[in-house]
Amino acid sequence: MNPIKHVAIIMDGNGRWGINRGKSRNFGHKAGIKTVEKIIKESLKKKIRYLTLYAFSTENWKRPKNEINYLFSLLDSFLSSKIEELNNEKIRLFIIGKKKFNKKLIRLLNFSEKLTSSNKRMQINLALNYGSKSEIINTVNYLKIKKLKINEKNITKNLYTQNIPDPDILIRTGNRKRLSNFLLWQLAYSEIFFEKKLWPDFNEKDYNKILSMFKKTKRNFGKI
Ligand code: FPP
Repeated sequence: MNPIKHVAIIMDGNGRWGINRGKSRNFGHKAGIKTVEKIIKESLKKKIRYLTLYAFSTENWKRPKNEINYLFSLLDSFLSSKIEELNNEKIRLFIIGKKKFNKKLIRLLNFSEKLTSSNKRMQINLALNYGSKSEIINTVNYLKIKKLKINEKNITKNLYTQNIPDPDILIRTGNRKRLSNFLLWQLAYSEIFFEKKLWPDFNEKDYNKILSMFKKTKRNFGKI
């Protein structure tokens, strides 16, 4: 059986979920937070060491201002109300992506990361203003400046994800089969699960089904 150290998730489908209910896209994002909480709890139960959540991509800046502002206000209230609880549960919060936000949010993100930095039970990597192509370009440029060899080991070591093992599993909800510029380097050998359900409908049972399927998968890493 395959051990599961790291699960990465593209939480897609919030907007459609809201619209399908005759409400706004933002209504869907709000509902998406409940699924985030469920999946964090279930990951703790299943002793998953790393959980990486794609919350905002570099491309998401192209969305209407009101949606962007709403997403960041959700993030702000999620962290303000939950960071103590996450800390008590010995969860570390780690941001991947460029922290180019307003000062208040940057302060909250830095505070949350610092508060939880020594926690080892589980690490949540929150991908915010994250884009995989720019992550790889930045890393290669850094290696050039430092006059370090551009090889697999050095690139891996200098991505945002640094010492974190690559995801065993990528889940994308929302019935779309694409990677959307997410962890392109790190996902090279991950098992990918595309889930039809929209993110707010995704639940512990769906998650566990995927985890069990993964456990039974034969992973070859290029061998036979
Ligand atoms: C994709 O759905 C979802 C996002 C871009 C945002 C995900 C954010 C959350 C779940 C809430 C904030 C997260 C945290 C951790 C506080 P979409 O809007 O692209 O959906 P669509 O494909 O139906 O349009």
